[in-house]
Amino acid sequence: MGGQFFFGGVETGRGQKTVHVVTMKAIILACGAGSRLCPLTQVSSKQLLAVFDKPMIYYPLTVLMASGVREYCLISTPDDLPRYQRLLGDGLQWGISIEYRAQPLPDGIAQAFLIAADFIGSDNVTLMLGDNIFFGGDDFPRVVSSFDGGATIFACRVKDPQCYGVVEFDRNGNAVSIEEKPREPKSSYAVPGVYIYDNDVVEIARAVKPSAWAELEITDVNLEYLRRDKLQVRRLSRGFAWLDVGTINALHEASAYIEAIECRQGVKIGCPEEAALVRGFLGIEQFEDLIQKMPTCEYSEYLCSVADEWHRLKGEK
Ligand code: TTP
Repeated sequence: MGGQFFFGGVETGRGQKTVHVVTMKAIILACGAGSRLCPLTQVSSKQLLAVFDKPMIYYPLTVLMASGVREYCLISTPDDLPRYQRLLGDGLQWGISIEYRAQPLPDGIAQAFLIAADFIGSDNVTLMLGDNIFFGGDDFPRVVSSFDGGATIFACRVKDPQCYGVVEFDRNGNAVSIEEKPREPKSSYAVPGVYIYDNDVVEIARAVKPSAWAELEITDVNLEYLRRDKLQVRRLSRGFAWLDVGTINALHEASAYIEAIECRQGVKIGCPEEAALVRGFLGIEQFEDLIQKMPTCEYSEYLCSVADEWHRLKGEK
């Protein structure tokens, strides 16, 4: 299965060795004030808002599930956590596990590793921002399943790099610097909100000092990996879409984008039930049980069509 890594052996008392399996876990970060989306975020967490036909949080979760990750920690504000718990539960219905932790104040993305240190344990971890939507290609599943230590982040060409962490590359395509929201960006390549780390990230995050914005910056974590010569920056190909749903226009554009693809192709993007079936986290019977529990709606009708297709491909119906 993707996302699992083996190293070394541990002596048991009887002279046998048990293999320690290093798993890829994931943190989804869903805090932040969402002030640019006010008044939509007056009573709702940003990542619970609708992006076309689903809650925003479904999109990053589904990308991670499609990459084979089964253990999750969702971090949100103490106020919003019960809403996420109501929506996502313990994850068992999708063949995954979801734990919850609170971030009382938006003290920075890197704080996630301190809040979730006990969840990470001795494993690797992917951090994804709950308001980032990715679509296209199989870049993530491939990178997650071939991850073998250090840190892997991505770089995506954008029109407004000054709003993000910006990567500078040398002539050979190697990353030489990353600057957080620079006034004069050294390239058009921004770092999207998904980051893959080995277990050193917890110790590295503990040493990060608050920035000029009084936040524990993820860029400082990435710079430490760069300093240790353990940072890989992968440029996302042109066919890959990265949407950062932080403003009203971006929210509207993301909905229009998802709608255009779903209506044209007849498939849903960001459907955790489907990802669970495809990855084998759920069997077809469990998948069909889930549909039974849903009201009749466009979403459940889509899941029925996925089940029909599954039976057709297996030649069962
Ligand atoms: P931002 O877009 O920087 O902040 P925000 O979501 O609060 O929005 P606004 O600027 O409109 O007030 O955050 C990017 C993502 O990171 C978003 O998904 C929230 C998340 N985040 C946290 O979960 N905790 C944090 O401490 C910070 C800084 C961000």
